[in-house]
Amino acid sequence: MASLQLQAVGVIMALVAGAGAAQSFEFHEATVDAIQLGFSNGTLTSTALVQFYLDQIGRLNPLLHAVIEVNPDALPQAKHADAERRHGTATGALHGVPILLKDNIAIQDALNTTAGSLALLGSVVKRDAGVVARLRRAGAVVLGKASLSEWANFRPVDNGWSARGGQARNPYVLSSTPCGSSAGSGVAAAANMAAVTLGTETDGSILCPSSFNSVVGIKPTLGLTSRAGVVPITPLQDTVGPMCRTVSDAVHVLDTIVGYDEHDAAATGAASKYIPDGGYTQFLKKDGLRGKRIGVPNGFFQRYGQTQLNVYKQHLATMRELGAVVVEKLDVAANLTALLDEIGSNEGMVMQAEFKLSINAYLADLVHSPVHSLADIIAFNKAHPVEERLKDFGQPDLIAAQSTNGIGPVERAAIQRLNELNANGLEKMMKEHQLDAIVAPNSAISSLLAIGGHPGIIVPAGYDKKGVPFGICFGGLQGYEPRLIEMAYAFEQATKVRRQPMFKP
Ligand SMILES: *[C@@H]1O[C@H](CO)[C@@H](O)[C@H](O)[C@H]1NC(C)=O
Ligand SMILES: *[C@@H]1O[C@H](CO)[C@@H](O)[C@H](O)[C@H]1NC(C)=O
Ligand SMILES: *[C@@H]1O[C@H](CO)[C@@H](O)[C@H](O)[C@H]1NC(C)=O
Repeated sequence: MASLQLQAVGVIMALVAGAGAAQSFEFHEATVDAIQLGFSNGTLTSTALVQFYLDQIGRLNPLLHAVIEVNPDALPQAKHADAERRHGTATGALHGVPILLKDNIAIQDALNTTAGSLALLGSVVKRDAGVVARLRRAGAVVLGKASLSEWANFRPVDNGWSARGGQARNPYVLSSTPCGSSAGSGVAAAANMAAVTLGTETDGSILCPSSFNSVVGIKPTLGLTSRAGVVPITPLQDTVGPMCRTVSDAVHVLDTIVGYDEHDAAATGAASKYIPDGGYTQFLKKDGLRGKRIGVPNGFFQRYGQTQLNVYKQHLATMRELGAVVVEKLDVAANLTALLDEIGSNEGMVMQAEFKLSINAYLADLVHSPVHSLADIIAFNKAHPVEERLKDFGQPDLIAAQSTNGIGPVERAAIQRLNELNANGLEKMMKEHQLDAIVAPNSAISSLLAIGGHPGIIVPAGYDKKGVPFGICFGGLQGYEPRLIEMAYAFEQATKVRRQPMFKP
């Protein structure tokens, strides 16, 4: 811990020294809009921007472990983007903007795609993930790969640790968890180690690390963003979404990555009806809370301490002042504990069977891989117990998944039950009270959103006595992104809670 504190002091001094140098473009906290303005008024190049983030990574990553790999092609990509801009062929908000990808998102270049595990090191994918293909077409620069909780919470559950990335740390309070599984994406966005980042969520993996690292995270409607080329957990719940310093930045990223993908045809085809003409930036409205009906379900805020409760109460008052109708004391179920327990057990059972099917399908689709099946992964971990920390974490979920045998009658019944719990729970409550959103702390409602394929947006809400960030979640039904963005943006603009990380011990 002592050496950690020393490192932290060094980092802060370096940051202060950097801030003293005269800069016409302010790199720290630069938004996508500011970056595009800098590009067009000639004070910034993509090359300079990439160099800034590479320096940030070099300086901070030994402490924060947020980045697994830096892209050797990032500077060449930036130079290419700069040339396109000079020739007037640059288009779109993310052109020339450096983005960091969670390490379960496949890319067909020098970067490895390993979900943080040594078992997948050296695997070669057939093509870019669907979202990466869209980013490339938009001219974004891929900066590198963000660390994650290995196998996205299947193993280990320790938040933010992976064999390849090590332990990711919360840049606000180093001894506090950054949460997972998209830990590196959240930490890197918070600490200005990338302009914007992508995370993935199956149940809470964008919402939780966004809350704990004081960034904005969007967990989109299922299928709004392609999951093709993403190391899977379950196609019934997996999503890809942005984790950024502002709502506006996250919306620019969302705009770029949504859409149909022939390699995830059923889900992206079904969700494409939700994509609005003209994209999502039209919903960045300062008066976006006016007239909105926002529900506050019982049982979620109550779990937090008085500091948080007071802050959350203040936020509800702010929403009312800005014209929202806040409906308090709603019940998602007669017995919330029983509902969440039943969701948890059915979700877990379905997830194990779906994970085995989908990870085996992912591995079978690779051009080359050291492992070809879930059984191979389990054997790999057994053969590398020290590197994969088997003693600390074991691999019970992987072993349980391996013992499943496809989607049989038991799994079908569990899927049916989850659909009922969703229809009679969140969906029924929101329709009955004509709600545009419910609000809840951090990732508390992630499973309610996960089982219905519903979207959620985290916005920074405050910091506890130790300085650990917390967030507020606006959750809605499938396709509610436009109104969630309106509310999240209006709330963010009114409260401006986010501060730069303090690197406290
Ligand atoms: C260029 O744009 C940036 C915002 O990105 C701004 O900070 C800077 O002042 C602008 N400079 C000029 C010369 O317009
Ligand atoms: C990808 O992994 C290989 C080891 O298999 C390593 O040599 C290489 O440097 C990695 N690529 C990057 C960009 O880090
Ligand atoms: C709610 O459900 C939990 C878990 O099933 C149970 O322990 C508890 O007694 C129930 N509470 C009420 C008030 O029924």
